[in-house]
Amino acid sequence: MRLQPDFIHEFVPGASNRTLLLLHGTGGNERDLIPLGREQDPRAALLSPRGKILENGMPRFFRRLAEGVFDLEDLKQRTNELADFVAAAAKHYKLAADQIVAVGYSNGANIAASMLLLRPEILSAAILFRAMVPFVPKIHPKLSSVRVWIGAGKFDQIVPTSETKHLVELLRGAGADVTIRFLEGGHELTGDDVDGAREWLTTLK
Ligand code: MLT
Repeated sequence: MRLQPDFIHEFVPGASNRTLLLLHGTGGNERDLIPLGREQDPRAALLSPRGKILENGMPRFFRRLAEGVFDLEDLKQRTNELADFVAAAAKHYKLAADQIVAVGYSNGANIAASMLLLRPEILSAAILFRAMVPFVPKIHPKLSSVRVWIGAGKFDQIVPTSETKHLVELLRGAGADVTIRFLEGGHELTGDDVDGAREWLTTLK
């Protein structure tokens, strides 16, 4: 059976009710974050789609006009498309729809943040590595039952500290329980990100 709407994806069954939705960065693909997902939670199912946009041959989850400048119309359309895919995949693979945790890096973290703001019913929690503010919603979504862990790089050239703080404010303003870590490093993922997020994940129900 084909999933509608469809995304090229990897699915790895799990031994618990949790599913990690793995969202790669620019130039990544559906296989990139599988080892990270396994490391984050050895018992969770893993659902890992490939972004449909190509920028100079590099897959992404939505279009941008320049680095850090997003095509907001495309972002919203792609966010809804991805949310619909996740809902369809939950039915298809018989996943607990209320235990889907996004794990996104960079462009993947940005679409995960966008999904929290636009389709708050999809994710119960999110781990966002090097995320930006995807857009500022006119109406705050209700995120009071959602937990978020954000890993930011103190020396990130793409995501300034002020941007991370703005994202934290936005999510907390919508009621989310947000843990923020500023780590020694830039835009690249570090061992401290991986360890910090994994530890935090063990505190989720
Ligand atoms: C984005 O476009 O989502 C951000 O600029 C991060 C990136 O993918 O480089």
